[in-house]
Amino acid sequence: MPEFDLAIRGGTVVTAADTFPAEIGIRDGRIAAVASRVGDAARTIDAGGLLVLPGGIDSHVHIDQPSGPGIVMADDFASATRAAAAGGNTCVMPFALQPRGESLREVAAAYRAKAEGRCHIDVAIHLIVSDPTPAVLGQELPALITAGYTSFKVFMTYDDLVLNDRQILEVFEVARREGARVMVHAEGYDTIRYLSERLERSGQTGPYGHALSRPQPVEREAAHRAITHAELVDLPIVIVHVSGEEAMEQIAWAQGRGLKIHAETCPQYLTLTAEDMKGLGAEDPIAGAKYVCSPPPRDAASQAAIWSGLQRGVFDLVSSDHCPFRYDDPQGKLNPKGRTSFRWIPNGLPGIETRLPLLFSEGVSKGRISLNRFVALTATNHAKLYGLYPRKGSIGPGFDADLTLWDPKRRETITQKNLHHGSDYTPWEGFAVTGWPVMTIAGGQVIAEEGRILSEPGRGRVLDRTIDRAGPFA
Ligand code: URP
Ligand code: ZN
Ligand code: ZN
Ligand code: ZN
Repeated sequence: MPEFDLAIRGGTVVTAADTFPAEIGIRDGRIAAVASRVGDAARTIDAGGLLVLPGGIDSHVHIDQPSGPGIVMADDFASATRAAAAGGNTCVMPFALQPRGESLREVAAAYRAKAEGRCHIDVAIHLIVSDPTPAVLGQELPALITAGYTSFKVFMTYDDLVLNDRQILEVFEVARREGARVMVHAEGYDTIRYLSERLERSGQTGPYGHALSRPQPVEREAAHRAITHAELVDLPIVIVHVSGEEAMEQIAWAQGRGLKIHAETCPQYLTLTAEDMKGLGAEDPIAGAKYVCSPPPRDAASQAAIWSGLQRGVFDLVSSDHCPFRYDDPQGKLNPKGRTSFRWIPNGLPGIETRLPLLFSEGVSKGRISLNRFVALTATNHAKLYGLYPRKGSIGPGFDADLTLWDPKRRETITQKNLHHGSDYTPWEGFAVTGWPVMTIAGGQVIAEEGRILSEPGRGRVLDRTIDRAGPFA
């Protein structure tokens, strides 16, 4: 009997802390050995010339989530996790969203049932709390946190999700007591409504109006307010999808005061701008709808600021915020009401498969961030912040054998026809990248190779997490 099920030889192993040549021995789905030479294996993969990275963990994705009347999200669990795997990811974290008036417990159970048996890679589910009733705060949320849903997101905007300041303080208090991780969508609801109505009255109803209705001060103010609430309750929080310099400055200011404010950004804020929402050169006047997401992409100065925040450690996470809608579809970006106002264009971009190549190419290949920082931002910190460490997020004995073999020199051009998601477009059509995932290994099994999916839906598990009050980022 060979000592290992699988050996990966000849590659350069990269973790958040180290880069070194090593062989990896895998047994029973886990990494059993990392050494200059490991013993016999039933199968050997030659990783010569390649980097061996921890599989990508994308802790902010939306899959098969309710999106309003007549609107359908473009990915179910099978298609989203297939696309994630092709893009070098081995774990994603979507959200069980509580519609107002519904039981959070029932919502979580129903969402989990949608995932079970359909995933190509492991998933861990966050909650979205939109209706913090006494029953939710007193019973349902604490019970769910204990049962393994150890993180949840709250929104400071959107008609059907927004919490007021009092409600935010109350859910923060539950999170503090139970040890849960809270993600905050920081944009100011009333300000957006005011600006949106003013834009509509002046006839600026096209997709670019979306950017004008949510300028940077709207995000800056909400980020500051979230920080204030977190300080008052003494709760570490993650401010997600930070788009620009102004919100980032608030976060850096809070971190400088010793507050435990963590931050996430996304490739769209490094590569797109509000100008994209103008849809210039496109035939359809609402072609800019393809780029409508919240917060909106900003400008070149904000992109530069976010890079500096990634370099300085203001950010812990780069996630995709994958939130896919079809473009050419009356149930997607081109729903009939969306033509009457940007307000009705569903928010979100597909990006689960392109996150790693975009950050690698723009970040590592262009010399802006190190390889180790890339691994921290795309895998290790996700595991640490959301209770998956030391099971996932690095390479060493005992970790799940979740690995991505990465060709740092490979040049590719991103194009919809090669992607695996359920959307009918990519915002990065024609974007040239250097660096590409050539093989994804999950639980010791090759699940994607050169864009081909080799696993079956149902291979991936729905993971429960436990609270570790002494853990990293506690
Ligand atoms: O526009 C976006 N980002 N849609 C996804 C939902 C969210 O707020 O993350
Ligand atoms: Zn959000
Ligand atoms: Zn942090
Ligand atoms: Zn999101």
